Amino acid sequence: MFKMMRHTAIIATLATVTGGALFAQTEVKIGYALAPDSHYGVAAQKWEEVVTAETDGKFTFRHFPSSGLGGEREVVEGLQLGTVEATIVSTGTLSNFVPATGVTDIPFLFRSLDHARRVLDGPIGQDILGEFDSAGLVALAWGEQGFRHITNNRNAIQTPEDIAGMKLRTMENPVHLDAFNAAGAAPGPMAWPEVISSLQQGTIDGQENPLSVIVSVKLDEVQKYLTLSGHVYSPAMLLVSKPFWEGLSDEDKAAFETGATEAVAAMRAYVDDVEQSGVETLKERGMEVNELTEDQKAAFRASIESAYEGYYETYGKELIDQIAATE
Ligand code: PAF
Repeated sequence: MFKMMRHTAIIATLATVTGGALFAQTEVKIGYALAPDSHYGVAAQKWEEVVTAETDGKFTFRHFPSSGLGGEREVVEGLQLGTVEATIVSTGTLSNFVPATGVTDIPFLFRSLDHARRVLDGPIGQDILGEFDSAGLVALAWGEQGFRHITNNRNAIQTPEDIAGMKLRTMENPVHLDAFNAAGAAPGPMAWPEVISSLQQGTIDGQENPLSVIVSVKLDEVQKYLTLSGHVYSPAMLLVSKPFWEGLSDEDKAAFETGATEAVAAMRAYVDDVEQSGVETLKERGMEVNELTEDQKAAFRASIESAYEGYYETYGKELIDQIAATE
């Protein structure tokens, strides 16, 4: 009996000394959808590098790239359950966890990478990150993928009529689905791990993703046409699991936060680069590429007017206008 009490006392003392982080988990399983040499891989490696340096190697990152832990929705669910510690993820499924995120998925809302970065790094973006707590998640920073473009095997796209009835894979994202439905396509949500085989088998005609993804995944091997539609900015997010976070000391939390900030810088630098060089690379690999003119883009924007009515209802016109007006 006495022995047991002494044992308990020692544990309690140690827990106090270590700020309650006695049993903190030190293996960080980090899952992401793309390869180690993608913008996700580069950011995950930077995150690890900074955390390792700041904590004297206390944490070991175990990487699961290329959807090694399943689709993005499954990985986020893993974070909620505490079976996965960290992820870098698109906003594809995030509005299913935190509805407010959906406002950042609205097509033709962001004008440029700089515009998007200013909004997401500013009060609007930071307020959305704060909402993840109530979903059992800790959102440390906004990353990004770039502007999404359409690839397909059916025909080149210049007008909304060119996507009429086109079987387009979208992310599991109601905001994107509404837009493509309004534009007259035949969109279908699909988890990323199924996309390449569905394109190969011809069960879908096309998909949409930023150059960062199209280049790093080599979508040119399964898609003929690339239309630079830039129809929507594609944010990403660096998330950690709440049970994991709550076991960290304040110093460890600071290391993860600094790491996330530097990871985002690396990710944005990658995206800046591929936005410059990606089109040439894809042309060299044999894709037929066309870029929408400003007038053609305006026609696509007009084709999704009815979806915009829904966005105003869901997210509030004031917020959407405020984002658009951000300098
Ligand atoms: O299209 C998607 O689902 C996402 O953009 C991807 C490729 C999984 C990266 O997050």
